[in-house]
Amino acid sequence: MIERTLWHPVALSHVVGTQPRAATLLGEDLVLWRDDSGQAHALADQCPHRGARLSMGRVAGGQLECPYHGWRFEGGGRCTHIPAVPGFQPGPRHGAHAFDTREAYGMLWVRLAAPEGAPGPIHDLPAFAAESEPRLRKTTSGPYVVQASAPRIIENFLDMAHFGYVHEGWLGSRDRPEIAPYQVAATPHGVKATGCLAWQPRASVHSTSVAQVDYTYEVTAPYMAVLTKQPEPGTTAIDGLRESIAMFICPVTEESSVAWTRMAMNDFDSPDARLIDFQNTIFGQDQPVLESQRPKKLPLAPDAEAHSAADRMSSAYRRFLKDSGIRWGVIA
Ligand code: FES
Ligand SMILES: [Fe+2]
Repeated sequence: MIERTLWHPVALSHVVGTQPRAATLLGEDLVLWRDDSGQAHALADQCPHRGARLSMGRVAGGQLECPYHGWRFEGGGRCTHIPAVPGFQPGPRHGAHAFDTREAYGMLWVRLAAPEGAPGPIHDLPAFAAESEPRLRKTTSGPYVVQASAPRIIENFLDMAHFGYVHEGWLGSRDRPEIAPYQVAATPHGVKATGCLAWQPRASVHSTSVAQVDYTYEVTAPYMAVLTKQPEPGTTAIDGLRESIAMFICPVTEESSVAWTRMAMNDFDSPDARLIDFQNTIFGQDQPVLESQRPKKLPLAPDAEAHSAADRMSSAYRRFLKDSGIRWGVIA
């Protein structure tokens, strides 16, 4: 399954520590924890001995200790100690299954299987890279626990025609619902929409008046998208406001997800709470609609749902998922 070879975000980096925590990715239960050197690890959350949840255990001496009989595991999954038989040298059969982890963009990422050939890079998101730190400040909102499939959440993130209804008075107005034609093109890793114009009463925390906002949307992986929004000059408290928002999603089950938004903007003054509050408001408006959608899995057949010309980006996203062989969270 191709989804298993992709990197997925599973938790904010700073919440993963020496207190083990549970997460679920693509239906797989994981235990996340850090060893004494600060290295993060993800193991199957099922002890190889009697199947107890390792996330109920503790980290001791830089190793994960099962809550049931105290077997100890290294970050790589090797079992080092069986307290009931202290002289015994555990072998590979006593080990826990370990998954690859990476840390990037303030998150811990896991992939469940290594792809064939060279290891895949973690998503390349220049606006969010550490190198952009002097120019762009980063903040993350979430986790949002959503009873919706990852593709439905991404498609909503790419959708402008709902602004005037779901986000009335904020990102749109029902008096100005029209979506002007925009351009959609395939990229090496997904699809991109440019020239997307929205009339927004309150485009961000920095808005000082209604504004025409120019959006660029980019799907960078099957369950990931980034938008960059540029309000017309003179409508924000910050001159030349530059704002990118990435939608990070952990596909938990086929019909439920955990989402975060990562913001990168040239605003070094607003308190985190203010920026996060705005995202919480917007996502809080989206969530009930997302959770109401049926079917919960995104139908990829072109005629499965009705479309309008405003939905070109969503149609391109569905084609991309189909062409990528994605099965999780979709009706192929
Ligand atoms: S179930 Fe984990 S040590 Fe026995
Ligand atoms: Fe929305």
